[in-house]
Amino acid sequence: MTSHKKNAKLVINDKSYPLDLSSPSAGPDVLDIRHLYRDANIFTYDPGFTSTASCESEITFIDGEKGILQYRGYDIAELAKNSYYLEVCFLLLYSHLPTADELANFEERVTMHTMVHEQLINFFRGFRRDAHPMAIITGVVGALSAFYHDSTDINDPQQREIACIRMIAKLPNIVAMAYKYSIGQPYIYPSNDLDYPTNFLKMCFSVPTQEYDTNPTISRAMDRIFMLHADHEQNASTSTVRLAGSSGANPFACIAAGIACLWGPSHGGANEACLNMLREIGTVDKIPEYINRAKDKSDPFRLMGFGHRVYKNFDPRAHIMKISADEVLEILDSDDKPILKVAKELEKIALEDDYFQSKKLYPNVDYYSGIILDALGYPTSMFTPIFALSRTVGWIAQWKEMIVDPTLKIGRPRQKYTGNVNLKYIPIEDR
Ligand code: SDX
Repeated sequence: MTSHKKNAKLVINDKSYPLDLSSPSAGPDVLDIRHLYRDANIFTYDPGFTSTASCESEITFIDGEKGILQYRGYDIAELAKNSYYLEVCFLLLYSHLPTADELANFEERVTMHTMVHEQLINFFRGFRRDAHPMAIITGVVGALSAFYHDSTDINDPQQREIACIRMIAKLPNIVAMAYKYSIGQPYIYPSNDLDYPTNFLKMCFSVPTQEYDTNPTISRAMDRIFMLHADHEQNASTSTVRLAGSSGANPFACIAAGIACLWGPSHGGANEACLNMLREIGTVDKIPEYINRAKDKSDPFRLMGFGHRVYKNFDPRAHIMKISADEVLEILDSDDKPILKVAKELEKIALEDDYFQSKKLYPNVDYYSGIILDALGYPTSMFTPIFALSRTVGWIAQWKEMIVDPTLKIGRPRQKYTGNVNLKYIPIEDR
């Protein structure tokens, strides 16, 4: 999408510096400061990049005030209702909804890459059985470049394409293997006759001793979790993937870097932390105590699953996830209903509280997802690996867009230096 340019100027010490101000296809106008250091010998300062656009992208648009999330221009609620994860993967990767033939071909290519190199199993043996699955998948995904040399040349379009397909195809297998390893059960090979979510559920929950009973409702809930987490503009882990990719690192290494960043409790680790928090609260009568702790500046406690850098109204994914949580727990007649009751009451009380209203804190994507995943049978340690599996398509689509961007430069921010300068060395006997 092209954007028309307006003029702005920065005046420093009576000297004026013209800057381009452009209007993107959606979202705030953008002030182009790329030549500011060259022309005015000054840096801009934006810790946490709250006001900084790091790139141009056509993949995902978010409007934090209006609670809008669109993948390639299609609203997340419409996609969650009408589409499914692999179709969304095609949309994110190739920027249009596929024809029936395109989708069939894409699904065939993904299916034919779901197995991992048999020798990769040796990597799992190096971990303790109680290793966090995020530690395992960070290591194993980073190691994929040692097995798939034929898709590490980022300058070869064919190799870039196969790396994208391999990543989407193999993450469910690797995440399921990490789970099986942690519970001491044998790995389950993917089945080419199953759809993507059902295949993942089977690789996680089936055992060689009996047939696996698929459940379309559970598969649909799993697929919706994948879809809602697929991409999210330039969040911390996606920016990590882009920064790693800007140096020319191979795509497997870049995705491993994204997985490592996602692990943090402020980011993708919040779903695990949120369910642990809801369990710690336990009952509705304990909610006020935790609300007060979240408001107490001297207490590091925060309401996990609440707040967002961009959404200052509501996270549309949380709305859809809440509906899905109701459906799944009803159908499964899950014993998580008390937890869901606490989650809904906590949301209601927090949203009526002046502190949360003044700071525009609302439930985010991680608030209800853990309840669904727990009801589906996953331990909390598997929540963030499932987020990583879902987000792999977003990471690789953003990486792919960056690699072919003619303006691509290695990412190299500067700093506001506040340390000592020009000190003289003092011999140790004089210190
Ligand atoms: C994800 O970026 C993305 O798009 C991420 C993501 C994606 O799909 O990739 O959407 C996925 O990471 C969702 C966020 C999951 N994280 C959590 O749920 C952890 C809890 N939330 C917070 O840690 C926090 O809200 C962040 C990290 C999500 C956002 O932090 P910001 O934008 O840097 O905001 P902030 O920390 O500056 O908070 C603003 C104010 C602060 O108070 P003041 O210093 O202004 O007095 O709000 C307070 C914070 O103390 N605050 C909270 C709070 N979150 C923010 N207070 C209590 N509980 C919270 N959860």
